Amino acid sequence: MAVPHPSSTFRAVVTGASSGIGMELARVLARRGHSVILVARRGDVLEGLADELRGDFSVEVEVRAMDLSDPSAVATLCDELAEREISVLANNAGVATFGPIAELDAAGERAQLRLNANAVHDLTLAVLPQMVARGSGGILMVGSAAGNMPIPNNATYAASKAFVNTFSESLRGELKGTGVHVTLLAPGPVRTGVPSADDASTVDDLVPDFLWHDSSRVAEMSLDALARNKMRVVPGTLSKAMSVAGGYSPRAVVAPIVGRFYGKLGDGA
Ligand SMILES: NC(=O)c1ccc[n+]([C@@H]2O[C@H](COP(=O)([O-])OP(=O)(O)OC[C@H]3O[C@@H](n4cnc5c(N)ncnc54)[C@H](OP(=O)(O)O)[C@@H]3O)[C@@H](O)[C@H]2O)c1
Repeated sequence: MAVPHPSSTFRAVVTGASSGIGMELARVLARRGHSVILVARRGDVLEGLADELRGDFSVEVEVRAMDLSDPSAVATLCDELAEREISVLANNAGVATFGPIAELDAAGERAQLRLNANAVHDLTLAVLPQMVARGSGGILMVGSAAGNMPIPNNATYAASKAFVNTFSESLRGELKGTGVHVTLLAPGPVRTGVPSADDASTVDDLVPDFLWHDSSRVAEMSLDALARNKMRVVPGTLSKAMSVAGGYSPRAVVAPIVGRFYGKLGDGA
């Protein structure tokens, strides 16, 4: 089998569904007929999306407003998901910080690691047994091109995404022949809104328009790849260049170059 067809009992889970790539993943899943469980902290935004998806696609939508950097909240969600029929898990929620880690808020850096890595690990372990027993399911891991290389001035994020990238591709090897699909989305820059002249960030200033990918397109590509059990989705020119640089260039050469770029993000982002 593969990713199960939508049914009244199956649920596709999207973490970080209140914005950006996660919101688009939820929209694409619902358009394809999947009933969904939406997870993020901002319950009001999730409720708005839930109304939209119920209205547009006649699917069941459940909202779980929670902080996935809080281990007890993650444990509660894991207990629930282990008991439900989960067809798809999209491990998407993630945050990044920029700048020298010694100057960043230590509590925030720890929370980032728990969200970007521990929650991904915990949620995956919660749904895997049922997927393997059933011989069907799909896990989409949202890592990053940033996880392919050392990145000074983005240390917690790059290391957490290295975990996601490696976990995804290792897990996939173990699951060969089980019917459970695992796909890694490892993007470079993905535009998750239309920046106005007033709120355009330093990232927008530094990355030219043609290198950005649109989040709805990235969501479509990722779910198509998951259906085909592709190993890795790398959308766009810059993502591919970062993947090649991270995979084939000496790390001692790459680190100072990308570190200088990410240092500029730390100055203004
Ligand atoms: N956009 C890019 O250029 C890019 C590039 C490479 C990789 N990625 C990865 O793609 C994923 C999505 O990125 P995005 O750009 O779409 O991000 P985004 O628009 O900032 O959305 C992040 C999502 O994560 C949720 N989230 C953040 N902290 C959370 C927490 N503690 N608990 C629960 N949910 C939390 C946010 O919802 P609440 O605030 O409501 O909690 C939001 O729904 C991330 O893993 C990111 O690292 C993005």
